[in-house]
Amino acid sequence: MKTVIITGAGSGIGLAVATKLAALRYNVVVNDYDAEAADRAAKEIGGVAVQGDVSNEADVARMVERCTEVFGAPTHLVNNAGHVHQSRFVDLEPADFDRMIAVHLRGTYLCTRAVLPDMLKRKSGCVVNMASQLGQIGGIELVHYSAAKAGIIAMTKALAREVSTGGVRVNAVAPGPINTPLVRALSDDWRSAKAAELPLGHFGEPEDVAETVAFLCSDAARIYVGQTLSPNSGDVML
Ligand SMILES: NC(=O)c1ccc[n+]([C@@H]2O[C@H](COP(=O)([O-])OP(=O)(O)OC[C@H]3O[C@@H](n4cnc5c(N)ncnc54)[C@H](O)[C@@H]3O)[C@@H](O)[C@H]2O)c1
Repeated sequence: MKTVIITGAGSGIGLAVATKLAALRYNVVVNDYDAEAADRAAKEIGGVAVQGDVSNEADVARMVERCTEVFGAPTHLVNNAGHVHQSRFVDLEPADFDRMIAVHLRGTYLCTRAVLPDMLKRKSGCVVNMASQLGQIGGIELVHYSAAKAGIIAMTKALAREVSTGGVRVNAVAPGPINTPLVRALSDDWRSAKAAELPLGHFGEPEDVAETVAFLCSDAARIYVGQTLSPNSGDVML
């Protein structure tokens, strides 16, 4: 039986991933910082909710303990939790920089660290990290976000090199603009200008990203190691 922990699964892409993997009969642990969102999502998909901040070591330990109690040790982890914050570099406050790195980079590190030893013991496991195309090309007024996402891509590659012979596959997804609350919080001007420049002409939906994650989690992706897949409406072509 497959058991997945999905962080930030109360909304947007994480919720779509949770819905997709539950439909594929995974046991799903829905983590979110927002307790109500986690509960709602877990009820909707038939999973287990665990409120917690991925940047907090004790919260992460509790999340993995709860998963192990209910379903057994996780076979899969999707590091998806994240937030966006826009600021010109010259106005960027250290507290906002630190929070960005804490949630995205430290959060990915802490959650992976909490599940990896058991996966290595079983010589089987799969980790999918949610990066962003801005980690590949950078985004204006998003230096801290871009740096955190680039860090996730590098962490994915380095860890994949270290653990893939131990049976654990680690990959990343770098979406382009996806129609979620996170993107709807950005300015209208930014969103209409962005849609106009996309080769496909429109943003992706959370379900599009969930398809990519489900593929990376599946045995069909057995030779994908350290890769960054890009559901991005053609915005970035590498
Ligand atoms: N929407 C996009 O266009 C887009 C593009 C590229 C990458 N991403 C990435 O995809 C991921 C999901 O984004 P989304 O668009 O679905 O956003 P969203 O705001 O809809 O969902 C993010 C969820 O993460 C939760 N969260 C935030 N900080 C957390 C923390 N510290 N601990 C636990 N949960 C936390 C939020 O409460 C929220 O429910 C993020 O990592 C984001 O950076 C999004």
